[in-house]
Amino acid sequence: MESYAERVALVTGAYRGIGLEVSRQLARRGFTVVLTARDPRKGEEAAAALKLGGLSVVPFPLDVTDRQSVEAARLFVEERFGRLDVLVNNAAILYDSWQRAETADLETVREAFETNTLGAWRTAQAFLPLLTRGGHGRIVNVSSESGSLSSMGGSTPAYSVSKVALNALTRMLADELHAARVLVNSVCPGWVATEMGGADAPRSVEEGAEGVVWAATLPDDGPTGGFFRDGRPLNW
Ligand SMILES: NC(=O)c1ccc[n+]([C@@H]2O[C@H](COP(=O)([O-])OP(=O)(O)OC[C@H]3O[C@@H](n4cnc5c(N)ncnc54)[C@H](OP(=O)(O)O)[C@@H]3O)[C@@H](O)[C@H]2O)c1
Repeated sequence: MESYAERVALVTGAYRGIGLEVSRQLARRGFTVVLTARDPRKGEEAAAALKLGGLSVVPFPLDVTDRQSVEAARLFVEERFGRLDVLVNNAAILYDSWQRAETADLETVREAFETNTLGAWRTAQAFLPLLTRGGHGRIVNVSSESGSLSSMGGSTPAYSVSKVALNALTRMLADELHAARVLVNSVCPGWVATEMGGADAPRSVEEGAEGVVWAATLPDDGPTGGFFRDGRPLNW
């Protein structure tokens, strides 16, 4: 397995679920992981547990809906490491399985957008200057097949539309950052047993996280502007 010692990754929404497991897997590969969480205490506890296993993990509070919080995280990474190699936009909310598009509460749709789309966008914008410094920048937008237009049905409207827009962001950033050699991809982890996915989900967090880590550790000539699950292309 290639070692990524000296490389720095930041994961949003990382104290539980897929984000926590992505942090663990990246740290096992040698990354120093900035494990971020809205609640500083939860982030510190999660990071402490990983550090007990000998992994290089640094907690930092981050709410992706809060511009000042994102800016504080950027400043911290800049001062501590001087660059960022991998950004995993994992934080998301509102799998609104109780809603239909025809009657959806648009405030709920707005809330989903604020975290799932604008949160990832805001975080990517803030960290871009650091992501271009090391020459191996990667952005992984943790998306969902719910955001695939080709299989779009009429459920989870707030969540699905926010992930469609996240996928659009992936395409745009991939194009704009090509020259800066930053690879940007969307990854669906599959249906995973987490707080969001529920206990009936067939996939473990380990399986779900692997495809995210694959995109975070692509070689310099790897794909960009794609949508993947388990390293294989998905239809937009
Ligand atoms: N589980 C699945 O089946 C599945 C399927 C497809 C895609 N996904 C995607 O996989 C990613 C991870 O999902 P998961 O299943 O691990 O969900 P999860 O267990 O609900 O975790 C979501 C994480 O996001 C954090 N978060 C929410 N709002 C935030 C904000 N404003 N700022 C920072 N962090 C915030 C949560 O922290 P708080 O406790 O502070 O809210 C939590 O740590 C998401 O992007 C999700 O859409 C999951």
